[in-house]
Amino acid sequence: MNIIDIINKKRNKESLNNLEIDFAVNGFVNGKIEDYQMSSLLMAIVINGMSEEETIYLTEAMIKSGNIMDLNDIEGVKVDKHSTGGVGDKTTLIVAPLVAACNLNVAKLSGRGLGHTGGTIDKLESIPGFNVNLNEKEFIKQVNDINIALASQTNNLVPADKKIYALRDVTGTVSSIPLIASSIMSKKLATSTDVIVLDVKVGKGAIVKSMEEAHLLASLMVKIGNSFGKKTVAILSDMDEPLGCAIGNALEVEEAIRILKGEGDEDITKLCVTLATLMVTLGKNISYKEARELVLEKLHNKEAYHKFLEWIKYQHGNIDELKISDKVISIKSQKTGYIQSIDALKLGEIARNIGAGRLRKEDKIDYSVGILLSKKVGDYVLENEELLKIYLSTKDVNLKEIIETYEIGPEYKEPNKLIIDLVK
Ligand code: URA
Repeated sequence: MNIIDIINKKRNKESLNNLEIDFAVNGFVNGKIEDYQMSSLLMAIVINGMSEEETIYLTEAMIKSGNIMDLNDIEGVKVDKHSTGGVGDKTTLIVAPLVAACNLNVAKLSGRGLGHTGGTIDKLESIPGFNVNLNEKEFIKQVNDINIALASQTNNLVPADKKIYALRDVTGTVSSIPLIASSIMSKKLATSTDVIVLDVKVGKGAIVKSMEEAHLLASLMVKIGNSFGKKTVAILSDMDEPLGCAIGNALEVEEAIRILKGEGDEDITKLCVTLATLMVTLGKNISYKEARELVLEKLHNKEAYHKFLEWIKYQHGNIDELKISDKVISIKSQKTGYIQSIDALKLGEIARNIGAGRLRKEDKIDYSVGILLSKKVGDYVLENEELLKIYLSTKDVNLKEIIETYEIGPEYKEPNKLIIDLVK
Protein backbone atom coordinates (compact mmCIF):
# COMPACT_ATOMS: atom_id res chain seq x y z
CA MET A 1 0.00 0.00 0.00
CA ASN A 2 1.25 3.50 -0.67
CA ILE A 3 -0.11 7.00 -0.09
CA ILE A 4 -0.04 8.01 -3.76
CA ASP A 5 -2.48 5.21 -4.70
CA ILE A 6 -4.73 6.28 -1.80
CA ILE A 7 -4.69 9.93 -2.94
CA ASN A 8 -5.42 8.87 -6.53
CA LYS A 9 -8.30 6.67 -5.41
CA LYS A 10 -9.97 9.54 -3.55
CA ARG A 11 -9.24 11.94 -6.40
CA ASN A 12 -11.06 9.46 -8.71
CA LYS A 13 -14.08 9.51 -6.36
CA GLU A 14 -13.56 5.94 -5.16
CA SER A 15 -14.18 4.85 -1.58
CA LEU A 16 -11.29 4.12 0.75
CA ASN A 17 -11.36 1.01 2.92
CA ASN A 18 -10.44 0.88 6.62
CA LEU A 19 -6.89 -0.37 5.91
CA GLU A 20 -6.20 2.54 3.56
CA ILE A 21 -7.61 5.08 6.00
CA ASP A 22 -5.57 3.57 8.86
CA PHE A 23 -2.47 3.66 6.67
CA ALA A 24 -2.93 7.35 5.85
CA VAL A 25 -3.71 8.45 9.43
CA ASN A 26 -0.96 6.37 11.09
CA GLY A 27 1.59 7.26 8.43
CA PHE A 28 0.91 10.96 8.90
CA VAL A 29 1.05 10.79 12.71
CA ASN A 30 4.31 8.80 12.57
CA GLY A 31 5.90 11.24 10.12
CA LYS A 32 6.10 8.70 7.24
CA ILE A 33 3.58 10.63 5.17
CA GLU A 34 4.55 14.21 4.34
CA ASP A 35 2.42 17.31 4.97
CA TYR A 36 2.03 17.90 1.22
CA GLN A 37 0.75 14.36 0.67
CA MET A 38 -1.74 14.58 3.53
CA SER A 39 -2.91 18.02 2.32
CA SER A 40 -3.52 16.54 -1.10
CA LEU A 41 -5.59 13.70 0.37
CA LEU A 42 -7.52 16.15 2.58
CA MET A 43 -8.30 18.35 -0.42
CA ALA A 44 -9.52 15.29 -2.38
CA ILE A 45 -11.81 14.50 0.59
CA VAL A 46 -13.07 18.10 0.72
CA ILE A 47 -13.91 17.96 -3.00
CA ASN A 48 -15.17 14.38 -3.41
CA GLY A 49 -16.51 13.72 0.09
CA MET A 50 -16.61 10.51 2.08
CA SER A 51 -19.35 7.95 2.65
CA GLU A 52 -20.73 7.39 6.15
CA GLU A 53 -18.74 4.15 6.32
CA GLU A 54 -15.47 5.88 5.38
CA THR A 55 -16.15 8.65 7.94
CA ILE A 56 -16.67 6.05 10.67
CA TYR A 57 -13.36 4.35 9.67
CA LEU A 58 -11.64 7.74 9.77
CA THR A 59 -13.07 8.48 13.23
CA GLU A 60 -11.88 5.08 14.45
CA ALA A 61 -8.39 5.54 13.00
CA MET A 62 -8.11 8.95 14.69
CA ILE A 63 -9.26 7.58 18.08
CA LYS A 64 -6.68 4.75 17.82
CA SER A 65 -3.88 7.28 17.22
CA GLY A 66 -3.78 8.08 20.96
CA ASN A 67 -4.91 6.90 24.38
CA ILE A 68 -8.53 6.41 25.32
CA MET A 69 -9.30 8.07 28.64
CA ASP A 70 -10.52 5.21 30.78
CA LEU A 71 -13.34 6.54 32.95
CA ASN A 72 -14.62 3.17 34.14
CA ASP A 73 -13.76 4.07 37.73
CA ILE A 74 -16.41 6.76 37.66
CA GLU A 75 -19.49 5.44 39.40
CA GLY A 76 -22.65 5.83 37.30
CA VAL A 77 -23.58 7.23 33.93
CA LYS A 78 -21.31 9.81 32.23
CA VAL A 79 -22.83 12.46 30.00
CA ASP A 80 -21.15 14.94 27.71
CA LYS A 81 -22.09 17.81 25.43
CA HIS A 82 -20.31 19.52 22.56
CA SER A 83 -20.93 22.68 20.59
CA THR A 84 -19.48 23.08 17.11
CA GLY A 85 -18.48 26.60 18.15
CA GLY A 86 -19.86 30.07 17.93
CA VAL A 87 -19.66 33.62 19.24
CA GLY A 88 -20.65 34.16 22.87
CA ASP A 89 -21.28 30.45 23.38
CA LYS A 90 -20.94 29.97 27.13
CA THR A 91 -23.54 27.17 27.38
CA THR A 92 -21.13 24.59 28.86
CA LEU A 93 -20.56 26.83 31.90
CA ILE A 94 -24.30 26.66 32.60
CA VAL A 95 -25.32 23.23 31.29
CA ALA A 96 -22.54 21.25 33.01
CA PRO A 97 -23.41 22.30 36.61
CA LEU A 98 -27.12 22.11 35.79
CA VAL A 99 -26.80 18.45 34.77
CA ALA A 100 -24.42 17.67 37.64
CA ALA A 101 -27.03 19.12 40.03
CA CYS A 102 -29.42 16.49 38.60
CA ASN A 103 -26.99 13.89 39.93
CA LEU A 104 -25.43 12.80 36.63
CA ASN A 105 -21.70 12.72 35.97
CA VAL A 106 -20.33 15.42 33.70
CA ALA A 107 -16.78 14.32 32.87
CA LYS A 108 -15.77 16.72 30.17
CA LEU A 109 -12.64 17.55 28.23
CA SER A 110 -12.66 20.80 26.28
CA GLY A 111 -10.44 22.76 23.94
CA ARG A 112 -9.19 26.30 23.55
CA GLY A 113 -10.63 28.75 21.07
CA LEU A 114 -9.05 29.51 17.73
CA GLY A 115 -10.22 32.01 15.13
CA HIS A 116 -13.39 33.95 15.89
CA THR A 117 -14.92 31.30 18.17
CA GLY A 118 -14.15 31.06 21.88
CA GLY A 119 -13.15 27.93 23.80
CA THR A 120 -14.52 26.76 27.15
CA ILE A 121 -11.03 26.22 28.59
CA ASP A 122 -10.13 29.88 27.96
CA LYS A 123 -13.37 31.04 29.59
CA LEU A 124 -12.63 28.94 32.68
CA GLU A 125 -9.04 30.16 32.81
CA SER A 126 -10.34 33.72 33.08
CA ILE A 127 -11.28 32.76 36.65
CA PRO A 128 -8.07 33.41 38.65
CA GLY A 129 -6.54 30.18 39.96
CA PHE A 130 -8.79 27.81 37.96
CA ASN A 131 -6.80 24.67 37.13
CA VAL A 132 -7.65 23.06 33.78
CA ASN A 133 -4.79 20.54 33.90
CA LEU A 134 -6.12 17.53 35.76
CA ASN A 135 -4.53 14.10 35.45
CA GLU A 136 -6.76 11.06 34.96
CA LYS A 137 -6.74 10.17 38.68
CA GLU A 138 -7.64 13.71 39.81
CA PHE A 139 -10.29 13.97 37.11
CA ILE A 140 -11.99 10.70 38.13
CA LYS A 141 -11.82 11.54 41.86
CA GLN A 142 -13.39 14.95 41.26
CA VAL A 143 -16.30 13.47 39.26
CA ASN A 144 -16.88 10.85 41.96
CA ASP A 145 -16.79 13.59 44.66
CA ILE A 146 -18.94 16.31 43.06
CA ASN A 147 -20.34 14.89 39.76
CA ILE A 148 -18.47 17.38 37.60
CA ALA A 149 -14.96 17.97 36.26
CA LEU A 150 -13.77 19.86 33.22
CA ALA A 151 -10.19 19.64 32.01
CA SER A 152 -8.12 20.56 29.01
CA GLN A 153 -7.63 17.89 26.34
CA THR A 154 -4.27 16.21 26.86
CA ASN A 155 -1.67 15.84 24.10
CA ASN A 156 -2.19 12.11 23.79
CA LEU A 157 -5.94 12.39 23.25
CA VAL A 158 -6.45 11.92 19.50
CA PRO A 159 -3.01 13.23 18.41
CA ALA A 160 -4.04 12.57 14.78
CA ASP A 161 -6.70 15.29 15.07
CA LYS A 162 -4.22 17.82 16.44
CA LYS A 163 -1.85 17.22 13.54
CA ILE A 164 -4.52 16.99 10.84
CA TYR A 165 -6.46 20.01 12.16
CA ALA A 166 -3.32 22.17 12.15
CA LEU A 167 -2.76 21.21 8.52
CA ARG A 168 -6.43 21.77 7.57
CA ASP A 169 -6.27 25.21 9.14
CA VAL A 170 -3.57 26.34 6.70
CA THR A 171 -4.58 24.42 3.56
CA GLY A 172 -8.19 25.49 3.08
CA THR A 173 -9.50 22.08 4.14
CA VAL A 174 -11.47 22.87 7.30
CA SER A 175 -14.77 23.11 5.52
CA SER A 176 -15.74 19.47 4.95
CA ILE A 177 -18.62 17.68 6.68
CA PRO A 178 -16.84 14.27 7.04
CA LEU A 179 -13.60 15.94 8.25
CA ILE A 180 -15.43 18.09 10.81
CA ALA A 181 -17.61 15.17 11.98
CA SER A 182 -14.67 12.77 12.44
CA SER A 183 -12.56 15.46 14.13
CA ILE A 184 -15.25 16.30 16.71
CA MET A 185 -16.52 12.77 17.29
CA SER A 186 -13.06 11.19 17.67
CA LYS A 187 -12.40 13.55 20.61
CA LYS A 188 -15.81 12.88 22.17
CA LEU A 189 -15.54 9.10 21.77
CA ALA A 190 -11.98 8.94 23.16
CA THR A 191 -13.29 9.74 26.66
CA SER A 192 -15.60 6.71 26.98
CA THR A 193 -18.69 8.73 27.89
CA ASP A 194 -22.16 7.11 27.72
CA VAL A 195 -24.23 9.99 26.33
CA ILE A 196 -23.30 12.72 23.84
CA VAL A 197 -25.51 15.76 23.18
CA LEU A 198 -24.33 17.89 20.27
CA ASP A 199 -25.16 21.53 19.63
CA VAL A 200 -24.60 22.18 15.93
CA LYS A 201 -24.46 25.91 15.34
CA VAL A 202 -25.67 27.31 12.05
CA GLY A 203 -25.41 30.84 10.68
CA LYS A 204 -23.00 33.70 10.04
CA GLY A 205 -20.91 33.15 13.18
CA ALA A 206 -20.77 29.34 12.89
CA ILE A 207 -18.47 26.92 11.11
CA VAL A 208 -21.40 25.79 8.93
CA LYS A 209 -23.44 28.57 7.38
CA SER A 210 -26.33 26.76 5.68
CA MET A 211 -29.20 24.76 7.15
CA GLU A 212 -28.56 21.93 4.70
CA GLU A 213 -24.92 21.52 5.80
CA ALA A 214 -25.91 21.75 9.46
CA HIS A 215 -28.46 18.94 9.04
CA LEU A 216 -25.88 16.80 7.23
CA LEU A 217 -23.25 17.41 9.91
CA ALA A 218 -25.68 16.76 12.78
CA SER A 219 -27.05 13.51 11.35
CA LEU A 220 -23.57 12.25 10.44
CA MET A 221 -22.26 12.91 13.97
CA VAL A 222 -25.33 11.22 15.51
CA LYS A 223 -24.76 8.16 13.29
CA ILE A 224 -21.07 8.01 14.26
CA GLY A 225 -21.94 8.26 17.98
CA ASN A 226 -24.58 5.55 17.70
CA SER A 227 -22.28 3.28 15.69
CA PHE A 228 -19.86 3.36 18.65
CA GLY A 229 -22.71 2.37 21.00
CA LYS A 230 -23.16 5.84 22.55
CA LYS A 231 -26.55 7.46 22.95
CA THR A 232 -26.16 10.53 20.73
CA VAL A 233 -28.54 13.32 19.73
CA ALA A 234 -28.00 16.77 18.22
CA ILE A 235 -29.83 20.03 18.15
CA LEU A 236 -29.38 22.70 15.52
CA SER A 237 -29.21 26.21 16.97
CA ASP A 238 -28.94 29.66 15.44
CA MET A 239 -25.60 31.49 15.26
CA ASP A 240 -26.49 34.43 13.01
CA GLU A 241 -26.35 36.83 15.95
CA PRO A 242 -24.13 36.19 19.00
CA LEU A 243 -25.48 33.91 21.72
CA GLY A 244 -26.63 35.90 24.75
CA CYS A 245 -25.08 39.31 25.37
CA ALA A 246 -21.44 38.75 26.37
CA ILE A 247 -18.49 37.98 24.09
CA GLY A 248 -15.10 37.60 25.76
CA ASN A 249 -13.92 35.33 28.52
CA ALA A 250 -14.54 36.94 31.94
CA LEU A 251 -17.65 38.72 30.61
CA GLU A 252 -19.04 35.36 29.50
CA VAL A 253 -18.37 33.81 32.91
CA GLU A 254 -20.24 36.71 34.46
CA GLU A 255 -23.18 36.17 32.08
CA ALA A 256 -23.20 32.43 32.87
CA ILE A 257 -23.51 33.29 36.57
CA ARG A 258 -26.44 35.62 35.81
CA ILE A 259 -28.18 32.82 33.93
CA LEU A 260 -27.57 30.33 36.75
CA LYS A 261 -29.06 32.86 39.17
CA GLY A 262 -32.15 33.13 36.93
CA GLU A 263 -31.27 36.66 35.80
CA GLY A 264 -30.18 35.90 32.24
CA ASP A 265 -31.52 36.44 28.75
CA GLU A 266 -34.59 34.21 28.12
CA ASP A 267 -33.35 32.71 24.84
CA ILE A 268 -29.97 31.45 26.01
CA THR A 269 -31.55 30.16 29.24
CA LYS A 270 -34.01 28.16 27.10
CA LEU A 271 -31.17 26.74 25.00
CA CYS A 272 -29.27 25.65 28.13
CA VAL A 273 -32.40 24.07 29.61
CA THR A 274 -32.99 22.15 26.35
CA LEU A 275 -29.40 20.85 26.18
CA ALA A 276 -29.46 19.86 29.86
CA THR A 277 -32.86 18.17 29.44
CA LEU A 278 -31.58 16.05 26.54
CA MET A 279 -28.55 15.00 28.62
CA VAL A 280 -30.77 14.12 31.60
CA THR A 281 -33.42 12.25 29.58
CA LEU A 282 -30.76 10.06 27.93
CA GLY A 283 -28.58 9.75 31.03
CA LYS A 284 -31.40 8.75 33.39
CA ASN A 285 -33.60 7.00 30.83
CA ILE A 286 -36.62 9.10 31.80
CA SER A 287 -39.14 10.98 29.65
CA TYR A 288 -38.28 14.39 28.20
CA LYS A 289 -41.04 15.93 30.35
CA GLU A 290 -39.70 14.42 33.59
CA ALA A 291 -36.15 15.45 32.69
CA ARG A 292 -37.23 19.02 31.92
CA GLU A 293 -39.09 19.33 35.24
CA LEU A 294 -35.99 18.14 37.10
CA VAL A 295 -33.70 20.54 35.20
CA LEU A 296 -36.02 23.51 35.81
CA GLU A 297 -36.27 22.63 39.51
CA LYS A 298 -32.45 22.60 39.84
CA LEU A 299 -32.21 25.91 38.01
CA HIS A 300 -34.97 27.65 39.96
CA ASN A 301 -33.95 26.40 43.42
CA LYS A 302 -30.35 27.56 42.64
CA GLU A 303 -28.85 24.09 43.20
CA ALA A 304 -27.24 24.45 39.75
CA TYR A 305 -25.72 27.80 40.77
CA HIS A 306 -24.35 26.30 44.00
CA LYS A 307 -22.99 23.34 42.00
CA PHE A 308 -21.20 25.85 39.74
CA LEU A 309 -19.59 27.53 42.78
CA GLU A 310 -18.60 24.16 44.25
CA TRP A 311 -17.08 23.10 40.91
CA ILE A 312 -15.08 26.31 40.44
CA LYS A 313 -13.77 26.14 44.02
CA TYR A 314 -12.82 22.46 43.66
CA GLN A 315 -10.63 23.34 40.66
CA HIS A 316 -9.09 26.21 42.72
CA GLY A 317 -10.84 29.06 40.92
CA ASN A 318 -11.58 32.26 42.83
CA ILE A 319 -14.74 33.70 41.33
CA ASP A 320 -14.57 36.84 43.50
CA GLU A 321 -11.38 37.83 41.70
CA LEU A 322 -12.84 37.67 38.18
CA LYS A 323 -11.41 40.72 36.43
CA ILE A 324 -13.24 42.72 33.79
CA SER A 325 -11.47 45.71 32.28
CA ASP A 326 -12.63 49.12 33.49
CA LYS A 327 -11.68 50.83 30.22
CA VAL A 328 -15.19 50.81 28.76
CA ILE A 329 -16.51 52.53 25.63
CA SER A 330 -20.25 52.83 25.13
CA ILE A 331 -21.22 52.59 21.45
CA LYS A 332 -24.35 54.58 20.60
CA SER A 333 -26.78 54.08 17.75
CA GLN A 334 -26.65 56.60 14.93
CA LYS A 335 -30.32 56.13 14.13
CA THR A 336 -33.69 55.20 15.55
CA GLY A 337 -35.29 51.90 14.51
CA TYR A 338 -35.47 48.15 15.03
CA ILE A 339 -32.38 45.95 15.08
CA GLN A 340 -32.53 43.84 11.90
CA SER A 341 -29.32 41.83 12.30
CA ILE A 342 -26.07 41.69 14.29
CA ASP A 343 -23.09 40.17 12.49
CA ALA A 344 -21.82 37.44 14.84
CA LEU A 345 -18.76 36.66 12.72
CA LYS A 346 -17.61 40.28 12.60
CA LEU A 347 -18.16 40.79 16.35
CA GLY A 348 -16.29 37.54 17.04
CA GLU A 349 -13.38 38.84 14.94
CA ILE A 350 -13.43 42.23 16.68
CA ALA A 351 -13.42 40.53 20.11
CA ARG A 352 -10.49 38.38 18.99
CA ASN A 353 -8.61 41.42 17.68
CA ILE A 354 -8.91 43.30 20.98
CA GLY A 355 -7.37 40.31 22.78
CA ALA A 356 -10.30 38.04 23.73
CA GLY A 357 -9.14 35.35 21.29
CA ARG A 358 -6.17 34.15 19.29
CA LEU A 359 -4.98 34.60 15.74
CA ARG A 360 -2.29 31.95 16.24
CA LYS A 361 -2.24 29.04 18.69
CA GLU A 362 0.63 30.62 20.66
CA ASP A 363 -1.12 33.99 21.21
CA LYS A 364 -1.90 35.03 24.78
CA ILE A 365 -5.48 35.94 25.66
CA ASP A 366 -6.53 39.01 27.62
CA TYR A 367 -9.36 37.59 29.72
CA SER A 368 -10.63 40.99 30.87
CA VAL A 369 -11.66 42.36 27.46
CA GLY A 370 -14.75 41.82 25.33
CA ILE A 371 -18.11 43.10 24.19
CA LEU A 372 -21.45 43.34 25.98
CA LEU A 373 -24.52 43.79 23.78
CA SER A 374 -27.26 46.07 25.11
CA LYS A 375 -29.52 45.50 22.09
CA LYS A 376 -30.34 42.32 20.20
CA VAL A 377 -32.28 41.54 17.02
CA GLY A 378 -35.90 42.73 17.30
CA ASP A 379 -35.12 45.41 19.93
CA TYR A 380 -36.04 49.05 19.34
CA VAL A 381 -33.26 51.62 19.65
CA LEU A 382 -33.33 55.40 19.73
CA GLU A 383 -30.69 57.58 18.09
CA ASN A 384 -27.88 58.06 20.65
CA GLU A 385 -29.04 55.15 22.79
CA GLU A 386 -26.43 52.49 23.66
CA LEU A 387 -26.07 49.50 21.32
CA LEU A 388 -23.18 47.83 23.09
CA LYS A 389 -20.23 48.33 25.40
CA ILE A 390 -16.69 47.44 24.51
CA TYR A 391 -14.17 46.55 27.22
CA LEU A 392 -10.63 47.33 26.13
CA SER A 393 -7.20 46.85 27.60
CA THR A 394 -4.03 47.20 25.53
CA LYS A 395 -5.45 47.04 21.99
CA ASP A 396 -7.50 49.63 20.14
CA VAL A 397 -10.62 49.23 18.11
CA ASN A 398 -12.18 50.72 14.98
CA LEU A 399 -15.51 52.20 16.16
CA LYS A 400 -16.98 52.46 12.65
CA GLU A 401 -16.36 48.74 12.12
CA ILE A 402 -18.29 47.96 15.32
CA ILE A 403 -21.28 50.16 14.47
CA GLU A 404 -21.49 48.45 11.08
CA THR A 405 -22.11 45.06 12.73
CA TYR A 406 -25.62 46.35 13.56
CA GLU A 407 -28.21 46.73 10.81
CA ILE A 408 -31.09 49.00 11.86
CA GLY A 409 -34.33 49.54 9.94
CA PRO A 410 -37.80 51.01 10.36
CA GLU A 411 -39.77 47.73 10.48
CA TYR A 412 -39.86 45.28 13.39
CA LYS A 413 -37.70 42.22 12.67
CA GLU A 414 -38.54 39.01 14.48
CA PRO A 415 -35.35 37.34 15.87
CA ASN A 416 -34.45 33.93 14.35
CA LYS A 417 -35.68 30.95 16.32
CA LEU A 418 -32.72 30.00 18.54
CA ILE A 419 -33.47 26.26 18.67
CA ILE A 420 -34.06 25.14 15.09
CA ASP A 421 -34.31 21.37 15.11
CA LEU A 422 -33.59 18.12 16.93
CA VAL A 423 -31.72 15.33 15.13
CA LYS A 424 -31.94 11.81 16.59
N1 URA B 1 -14.11 21.64 15.72
C1 URA B 1 -13.31 20.56 15.71
O1 URA B 1 -12.94 20.03 16.75
N2 URA B 1 -12.94 20.06 14.51
C2 URA B 1 -13.33 20.57 13.34
O2 URA B 1 -12.97 20.07 12.30
C3 URA B 1 -14.16 21.71 13.37
C4 URA B 1 -14.54 22.23 14.58
